[in-house]
Amino acid sequence: MTSESTVFLNGEFLPLADAKISVLDRGFLFADGIYEVIPAYQGQLFRLQQHLDRLNNSLSAIRMSPVMSDQQWIDVLTKLVEPHAQTDQSVYVQVTRGASSHRDHSLPDDPTPTIFAMCQTIVVDNLNTLAKGISAITLDDIRWDWCHIKSIALLGNILLKQQASDQQCTEAILLRDGFATEGSASNLFIVKNGQLITPPKSHYLLPGITRDLILELAIEEGIDCVEREISEQQLYDADEIWLTSSTKEIMPVTELNEQAINNAQPGEIWHKVSSRYRQFKQQFRQNND
Ligand code: PDD
Repeated sequence: MTSESTVFLNGEFLPLADAKISVLDRGFLFADGIYEVIPAYQGQLFRLQQHLDRLNNSLSAIRMSPVMSDQQWIDVLTKLVEPHAQTDQSVYVQVTRGASSHRDHSLPDDPTPTIFAMCQTIVVDNLNTLAKGISAITLDDIRWDWCHIKSIALLGNILLKQQASDQQCTEAILLRDGFATEGSASNLFIVKNGQLITPPKSHYLLPGITRDLILELAIEEGIDCVEREISEQQLYDADEIWLTSSTKEIMPVTELNEQAINNAQPGEIWHKVSSRYRQFKQQFRQNND
């Protein structure tokens, strides 16, 4: 992104350098807001309705009303990605409870939300790079108990991810009361004896859009899928481990806590589902040509 890049702020499209908000914005003072990250392939927003539904669920969970209709969001986000139709973008959307006249923990009676969106180029790893797999460590989940909300308060997530980076690992897989829930910025799947397992949706994990799509595609592929809690031991005993997100898609974990998973190779089921996911994306691009 450059200072010239067009962003959306409170009803206006303007250069990034001119997009300014108040220092009294509750997003800045209290991390009082929510966000979304939506991929756009060649100018077409992927799984847009699912992202908008989750955005509105997050708003409702923090006691905010929808700030725009779905059609208004579609118009804004489409306009934002249109100039970048030659590339793949990730669209970042943030809504905060806006600025009050003074700093006060109590919720304002009649807030004027701050609505911001921007896009940046994403380069999704190609199959060969992805097939090398990533390394991860397990860490206790130090975050709050409302992880189903896509809150902009990401200090827990970023400090956990940094602990993984400090150990030359890509991701941290988080544990709560002896169960693995998700990654610091991704959802978790394991494969055991041919069965694909992911933790059920709960307050301890983000209901990932990629997670849901993978379940849909894996079922279509005839893979036995189950939403079930994954104990720490089951994680270590897994045949395959994957971490998923809109921007990273399906990352095979080939090393966990310095131990090789599946002889440090992505597994058979990963190959199957990953290529189905790519095919689905390809069809999406073609249908929207
Ligand atoms: N994060 N869990 C957490 C904690 C996440 O931050 C994310 C994605 C996911 C996967 O959700 P989805 O499949 O809808 O992208 C799960 C985004 C990409 C981010 O914060 O940039």
